[in-house]
Amino acid sequence: MSDFTTIIVSTNERIGTIQLNRPEALNALNAELMDEVVRAAVEFDADPEVGAILLTGSAKAFAAGADIKEMASKDFAEMYSREWFGRWDEFARLRTPIVAAVSGYALGGGCELAMMADLIIAGEGATFGQPEINLGVIPGMGGSQRLTRSVGKAKAMDMVLTGRHIGADEAERIGLVSRVVPDDQLQAEAEKAAGTIASKSKPASQMAKEAVSAAFESPMNQGLQFERRLFHALFSTEDQSEGMAAFSEKRSPEWKHR
Ligand code: HXC
Repeated sequence: MSDFTTIIVSTNERIGTIQLNRPEALNALNAELMDEVVRAAVEFDADPEVGAILLTGSAKAFAAGADIKEMASKDFAEMYSREWFGRWDEFARLRTPIVAAVSGYALGGGCELAMMADLIIAGEGATFGQPEINLGVIPGMGGSQRLTRSVGKAKAMDMVLTGRHIGADEAERIGLVSRVVPDDQLQAEAEKAAGTIASKSKPASQMAKEAVSAAFESPMNQGLQFERRLFHALFSTEDQSEGMAAFSEKRSPEWKHR
């Protein structure tokens, strides 16, 4: 894995961990950090020894948003011609399941980055919000789209139009996060979830992610057809035979493809 300056990466027990590490700016997402996160995640995605990616920040902030100071002096031509934030599309397209462990602030781009993960596990003190309206702009890393698909129009409009922050409990109630755990257990719980995912048959977990993700992007009939084709395709894998045989034989499966 390459050398990085704004993130810390490690691999353990089939989990590739990316920790955002710009404490002086509450992990604000500048261009360098975006580049490093995407590069590290792409490397993990290609690594057969990695079955899940864990994305974390610090106790105080997962990420307090895109880097406002870096963006402040830019004009339309530069934002447009450099397709600012476009690189995140690569991250969102990865096939390895991604767990975000959110502690502290997940605001603006921080909330939007967490929403690019497949599971969000939040510490009970976590705070989510899309406060871009207070800067005279709007969400630019998918907030208006992913948030609306996750929580519906009523809550998305409330957050995007008022900039109101919400706590972890409300975030769980409205379907933005998967689970809320005590702050001091966040890392352990997130590692446990990522470890569980990483222990499954890899083609099955990748296709499960693809199938659920398709629900965000396609009409119901196409999504159902896509799911069914993936389901059929899994019958070409040894893991399908092994998983079903193990059930009948009352034993744990031994996955061939992980
Ligand atoms: C750059 C940031 C930053 C950010 C915090 N910092 N957030 N720098 N971009 N998004 C810096 C502060 O300037 C400060 O640096 C240091 O981090 C610590 O932050 P404080 O404000 O002193 O901490 P605190 O008082 O605890 O307040 C925490 C906070 C506040 C509530 C999270 O920092 C805040 O409101 N941040 C901005 C949140 C936000 O608006 N995010 C959306 C960004 S726009 P110094 O050098 O002063 O110590 C976005 C969308 C992009 O994400 C799409 C369209 C633009």
